Amino acid sequence: SIPGITLNNGSVIPQLGFGVWQVPDEGAAAAVRTAIETGYRSIDTAAIYDNERGTGLGIQQAGVPREELFLTTKLWNSGTRDWSGQAGRDAVLREFDASLEKLGTDYVDLYLIHWPRPMHGSFGNIWAAFEELAASGRAKAVGVSNFGPAELTRLLENTSLVPALNQVELHPYFPQTELRAFHAEHGIATEAWSPLGQGGALLAESALVKVAEKHDRSVAQVVLRWHLQSGIIAIPKSVTPARIQQNFDVLGFELDAEDLAALDSVATGERIGPDPTGFDWN
Ligand code: A2P
Repeated sequence: SIPGITLNNGSVIPQLGFGVWQVPDEGAAAAVRTAIETGYRSIDTAAIYDNERGTGLGIQQAGVPREELFLTTKLWNSGTRDWSGQAGRDAVLREFDASLEKLGTDYVDLYLIHWPRPMHGSFGNIWAAFEELAASGRAKAVGVSNFGPAELTRLLENTSLVPALNQVELHPYFPQTELRAFHAEHGIATEAWSPLGQGGALLAESALVKVAEKHDRSVAQVVLRWHLQSGIIAIPKSVTPARIQQNFDVLGFELDAEDLAALDSVATGERIGPDPTGFDWN
């Protein structure tokens, strides 16, 4: 079965999950249901994806006991617009309750601050609310997304609760080497969004096609295998049942040093998605 990573709260997250960014709410139930029926046990959504309802419905339709699933959602920036003082805490809890209601569950396994923008002033209030959610067990683990070393450092200086993980854009074009070293130093797990580079040019890279041919696999499978062997949690997205299944079928082969070198060789250091440091949150 899919290996797990133990988080700093003691819970175990499957290294391969199903991401639903860019899946419309109407299509989310079918995609999530297909994923769970395929064997995925980790589902990643967010308030801003506007598909928590469909995601919750898919979970119910799949009929797998809730405790066998690892469910992640995220706090959107606007949910903290009134984040000064006590209002910040209340706004976070209100947004969290709304997410639970849409998901049709009474807890999540992981709750993330989606973007590091509310870093000024009372950022600590947001994390204090996250600590409260973690203490209550309504969010079993808490973490962040799209943070860089500077934002993580600032957070760590102001809290005793280390985020369980940081979910960032990460794929062979953009391997986040320095950030991963920072995470390792602090016991923060690394989770990759858009692990397939959004399904574009990366999957056509000739160096990767060669590795895929060698193993009689697809490039997507090779790339996901790279994530797993690198200790990264990956949450590929697809609305195509055959791809949902293909992306889960990554256990029966192993990349060797030469393959891993080929994957390293395609790094450009360029993001495909938005740059969190330039993100204007509102
Ligand atoms: P689709 O959803 O139409 O199947 P990422 O998770 O890196 O953001 O990548 C998601 C994109 O990659 C989606 O456009 C998805 O298309 C596509 N994709 C997902 N899995 C595969 C695969 N195995 N082969 C090719 N494209 C894929």
